Amino acid sequence: MKSKLLHISTIGCQMNVYDANQIAGVLAPLGYTGTDAIETADMVIVNTCTIREKAEQKAFSLLGRLAKIKIANPSLIVAVGGCVAQQEGEAIIKRMPHVDMVFGTHAIFRLPEMVRRIESTRCRIVDVRLSETIDVDDPVTGPLTDGQVSAFVTIMRGCDNYCTYCVVPHVRGRESSRHPDRILEEVRTRVAQGVREVTLLGQNVNSYGNKEGLCSFAELLTRVNTIGGLHRIRFTTSHPKDLSDDLMRTFGRLEKLCNHIHLPVQSGDDGILKRMNRKYTRSAYLEKIAGLRAVSPDIAITSDFIVGFPGETDRQFQATLDLIESVRYDGLFAFMYSDRPSAPSAAFSGKIAEPVKKERLQALLNLQEGITREKHQAMVGRTLRVLVEGPSRGLKPDDPAIAASQIQWSGRSSSNHIIHFAVPEDFLAKKELLTGAFADIMIEGAYAHSLWGRLINGPMNTAQGKGETTIAA
Ligand code: SAH
Ligand code: SF4
Ligand code: F3S
Repeated sequence: MKSKLLHISTIGCQMNVYDANQIAGVLAPLGYTGTDAIETADMVIVNTCTIREKAEQKAFSLLGRLAKIKIANPSLIVAVGGCVAQQEGEAIIKRMPHVDMVFGTHAIFRLPEMVRRIESTRCRIVDVRLSETIDVDDPVTGPLTDGQVSAFVTIMRGCDNYCTYCVVPHVRGRESSRHPDRILEEVRTRVAQGVREVTLLGQNVNSYGNKEGLCSFAELLTRVNTIGGLHRIRFTTSHPKDLSDDLMRTFGRLEKLCNHIHLPVQSGDDGILKRMNRKYTRSAYLEKIAGLRAVSPDIAITSDFIVGFPGETDRQFQATLDLIESVRYDGLFAFMYSDRPSAPSAAFSGKIAEPVKKERLQALLNLQEGITREKHQAMVGRTLRVLVEGPSRGLKPDDPAIAASQIQWSGRSSSNHIIHFAVPEDFLAKKELLTGAFADIMIEGAYAHSLWGRLINGPMNTAQGKGETTIAA
């Protein structure tokens, strides 16, 4: 079979990254192999996101560029997948003559058939059908990149929560969970391919299995924890309203479960939470945080925030800042509210002006920056066990951390901190052993979003529980 080159450009969340890998997996039997070079590809797939207006604009600007590339290479197949494809469907084909195929979020398993048809007849195809349940559940694992130590495994798709600002239920369809046996099979395959860590994905993993009467998410984690050769488990995202005591207790019970939870709160004000349809109050959220810390006192907690939701007053925004002060997050993502046409809040009154949203975003980020700095500083002198991901990217050559060594590596702690570290000369001989191994790193300093330190023990082949010890500086 003639080998053909496929370029997939992914915008959006981890779910889309997972989907991109599945797309590569289902198209491999047709002779497609991945390429980074867009200009020489036989097919380009733009895997899109529409969570905020900016994400959607990004997709259309890349599609604009592809129109020019296709003039130089008329046999190029241009496809649009993901959430913008689901949202816009046929309109994309009508508006953009250079697009050959639009496929929605449920169409990935129908791709081989569609691509074959386009290859043989050069027809144009739109498939944005949504189904109630996952119709095909054969684990498809696409290729791993060189030295990839961690992989995503989707455990459910869709969302039934209908937060008023959110487009996801409209573009990903109804919540539907995969069978635990299929999930375990996929994790085992990844482990056999050399992966040490998996992140279980869903828009709200806490409600896994409820609808179908499968096992609970805590039970699923317990089963994944027994897989030999797997060292670490992460999951995202948790909805606070469904975070059960049983699930909280898994942090104390499962040795492979990483000591981190991403628990998006969105706002610290009850009135805003109500109008967002989040179905919890500020105090219920704070109780969950206390519950988690009771089980695991040093658990790392991160969150998502939206600033400038319609009608948000200065006082309500202040309540969000107060919540951040009292939780003291290990990190957060904050977004300026953006109207999405299919989301109910687009019709809410009291829209906040862009400059006010910008000001609030900056105030929130400044507050968190100070908290992160203090938390990072408190970690100096501690030793953390990291899973080594490979040589660091993007460090400046005059960086103080790099001065000690020409080789600079990075890894992640159980708490999901990114840690860069220098490797002493006598370790250089072992460098090929480092990626995918565990190592103890003594923290010596902090950047805004990561830490750096010195390798004091390793490489080794074990995560040893949470892998965290404190030793004198
Ligand atoms: N399922 C996850 C998150 C999905 S979207 C959850 O429930 O938390 C990721 C984040 O994008 C959200 O947590 C929210 O903070 C942000 N977001 C979603 N819709 C948005 C909008 N219309 N404007 C700005 N941010 C938005
Ligand atoms: Fe969107 Fe809410 Fe579902 Fe998250 S839980 S995907 S924010 S509707
Ligand atoms: Fe974006 Fe779709 Fe994910 S809208 S955030 S790619 S679910």
